[in-house]
Amino acid sequence: MLVKVLGAGAGGGFPQWNCNARLSRLAWDGDERVIPRTQSSIAVSADGKRWTVVNASPDLRQQIAATPELQPARDGPPRNSPIAAVILTNADIDHIAGLFTLRERQRFSLYANRRVLGVLKQNRVFDILAPDIVARLPLPLDEGAEIAGLDVEAFPVEGKVALYLEDPSKEGFGTEQGDTIGLKITAPSSGTLFYIPGCAKMDDGLLDRVRGADALLFDGTLFTDTEAIDLGVLNKTCRRMGHVPISGEGGSLHAFDGAGIARKAYIHINTTNPILERGSDAERIVNAAGWEVSYDGMTIEL
Ligand code: MLT
Ligand code: MN
Repeated sequence: MLVKVLGAGAGGGFPQWNCNARLSRLAWDGDERVIPRTQSSIAVSADGKRWTVVNASPDLRQQIAATPELQPARDGPPRNSPIAAVILTNADIDHIAGLFTLRERQRFSLYANRRVLGVLKQNRVFDILAPDIVARLPLPLDEGAEIAGLDVEAFPVEGKVALYLEDPSKEGFGTEQGDTIGLKITAPSSGTLFYIPGCAKMDDGLLDRVRGADALLFDGTLFTDTEAIDLGVLNKTCRRMGHVPISGEGGSLHAFDGAGIARKAYIHINTTNPILERGSDAERIVNAAGWEVSYDGMTIEL
């Protein structure tokens, strides 16, 4: 099984269009200490021919341009694409806006939890993906599904309803189970990948689930809970955004210690996160705890 990180950045990417905080400034200036990242997505294939894109980022067109495996087959018909399926893990803009890139009446299957399919249904603009061409298929929780040669199991994780759907009058802003899912992905005679780009809280159920995995790509949005506030870019904690911070009490840094996971990498990394700077203390801290910092183009073979 082949896994390619298409976009390792969080919503907005790195640098985010309106961010002038230090790291983004370095990125705008082309400083070698940082490499830009597009928005959150991976592609997975069992055979290197049929690919499943997990999360359709607003940067998908650029990501396809940077990834020959996702471009039309040279010897195929006048219109073709190796993208056989798309799976969505939530309804955030960084995970659904790329669906618009996939218009032009190209056949593929679109999988998501019923909650997320409901969001697409309520917004007619998504009908640009004609239902007779692009099948929308519910991905039940805790059940395996065969998707383009992959065995995919979706499971609920702590999360938050998409920002534009928050209802302040409701507990948890109206978040319900299925709004955020994680995925366990395997293929015949391959290792196991867990992809969890959004997770609001660590819990024992999650730890049990990922035990012994060959690879884990996990929510690395912010390094500290108050990072965005401290930098003056946004008056929200990481947890309020629906993401568990890397460091501090209850953080993800050491949460998976002893879980026997062969390879762990942070993904969905916000434009403010100090792990984005090569040689930084934050990078040293996550590396020392056994984490890699993912980047666009990173490939994992399982
Ligand atoms: C998130 O992951 O919290 C969202 O992508 C934020 C956003 O809407 O950009
Ligand atoms: Mn996001």
